Amino acid sequence: MADKNIEYNVLNASRLSVAPMMDWTDRHCRALHRQLSRVALLYTEMVTAAALVRGGATHLLDHDPGEHPVALQLGGADPQELAQAARMGAEAGYSEVNLNVGCPSDRVQSGTFGAVLMTRPGLVADCLAAMAAAVPAGVEITVKCRIGVDDQVPQEILPDVLERIRAAGVRRVAIHARKAWLQGLSPKENREIPPLDYPLVHAMKAAFPDLHVSLNGGIDSLDAALEHLDAGLDGVMIGRAAYHTPTEILGAADRRVFGRPGPDRTAEDAVAAMLPYIERHVSGGGRLHQVTRHMLGLFAGRPGARAWRRRLSEAAHRPGAGPEVVETALSEVVPRAA
Ligand SMILES: Cc1cc2nc3c(=O)[nH]c(=O)nc-3n(C[C@H](O)[C@H](O)[C@H](O)COP(=O)(O)O)c2cc1C
Repeated sequence: MADKNIEYNVLNASRLSVAPMMDWTDRHCRALHRQLSRVALLYTEMVTAAALVRGGATHLLDHDPGEHPVALQLGGADPQELAQAARMGAEAGYSEVNLNVGCPSDRVQSGTFGAVLMTRPGLVADCLAAMAAAVPAGVEITVKCRIGVDDQVPQEILPDVLERIRAAGVRRVAIHARKAWLQGLSPKENREIPPLDYPLVHAMKAAFPDLHVSLNGGIDSLDAALEHLDAGLDGVMIGRAAYHTPTEILGAADRRVFGRPGPDRTAEDAVAAMLPYIERHVSGGGRLHQVTRHMLGLFAGRPGARAWRRRLSEAAHRPGAGPEVVETALSEVVPRAA
């Protein structure tokens, strides 16, 4: 799957990354994204440290070496538990372990982690220091955070958080450029309603030049990502747009973001590359829709895209469905003009 000639390096790859997304960026989604970009950094869904350490759910770490560069995102707030989980992640082959300081869901709040940690920067620093001490030197500990929560003043709290995480040894951070409101908004609303503040993230890069800063939130095209990179940010992290329109975001990323020679990857390339993957998955007892549910947006914006989605959605759930369903759906898509 992966090109052995490319030296994978999470630092370089983080110039463009696909955000961690629960229920979305599972290993099948990452396998698909890797067919579109050889280089962009991919994140796992958030895995709670408790599930790994207390629940023994090590299958949550499963991934294919071909997905690299891929980073593990952890959720938690107990330094020792996070340290142990980070060590487990490193042993499972991840070369980056990211701490979630941005997720506002109730379930996460009740465990006192995620975005609510923006109110406890000292604890965040303790967690990060414990994680860093637990992993080998080649494994990087990073953070994904918000600009603040509730009535915090982002211009005050964000520099404080960055200062402390830097003191804990972190060199790379992705900032979701909006607050999380911990009461009254659903997680979905918390990705839409609090206003985006891109200038603040740029200001943080200027104030912390030695930190590698990625901007996250509302970036919906490669052009928009490149504007932020050209303006001095080190990285851009894209979530929903990468999921819903993966070809548009990732197909040209290796050339446009990483300066690698073309040709760009097309949706057809990705489908062709996924067929053997799907064959292996289905013959190993997996269900087709577990993979194809992530492929619905591949042809977004192209004639036939709706028929592609409909075919896959209808047929992929049927018992025994296999790669032939994908081939039939592909025949619905009008070929690209030469
Ligand atoms: C379905 C879904 C699940 C998400 N799960 C996580 C998660 O597990 N960890 C996390 O840090 N952020 C999570 N997020 C937030 C995204 O990583 C990202 O910060 C957010 O969607 C804003 O970026 P975007 O506008 O490019 O989508 C999730 C977002 C979505 C849409």
